[in-house]
Amino acid sequence: MRRLAIALAALWPGLAHAQAMPEEDAEVRRGRLLFLQCRACHTLAAGEAHRVGPNLWGVLDRPVGSAAGFAYSPALSRWGGRWTPERLDAFLADPAGAVPGTTMAFGGLARPEDRRALARFLAQATRAAGPGRIPP
Ligand code: HEC
Repeated sequence: MRRLAIALAALWPGLAHAQAMPEEDAEVRRGRLLFLQCRACHTLAAGEAHRVGPNLWGVLDRPVGSAAGFAYSPALSRWGGRWTPERLDAFLADPAGAVPGTTMAFGGLARPEDRRALARFLAQATRAAGPGRIPP
């Protein structure tokens, strides 16, 4: 019982954050829930600190591996170019397969519908104008 209470307490900030905003459709809400798997390592809002992974503010509009002050792996830096929906999809499906040598220790999301929901949530949450933006 006590362990359950501790586990719930640890999850609480994530759950509170996961509450949907009224403008979100069901798929974006699902993406927000899926992001609970990412938030231990990534922040979303402008100006938030990097964690194990880089802050993702504006990620879909910026070059790969370009968040100031984050030490990317040589592998991701070499991948180069800009993030596109296709490249994000490939990276989230299998980070180590898409970018061998990446330091993102995440197994990947096997289901295309999960990746699509997460990408849509990210597109909203990491842009100032997006209705799904998480306030800082
Ligand atoms: C265990 C920590 C960890 C988890 C969990 C994790 N990431 Fe990452 N992520 C990283 C690290 C570290 C990097 C930098 C990788 C590199 O330099 O090779 C990264 C890089 C990224 C990038 C590239 C950012 C850029 O600036 O180019 C994206 C996009 C990303 N992660 C999205 C996600 C998403 C979405 C999830 C959840 C499905 C997730 N990550 C889960 C640690 C993590």
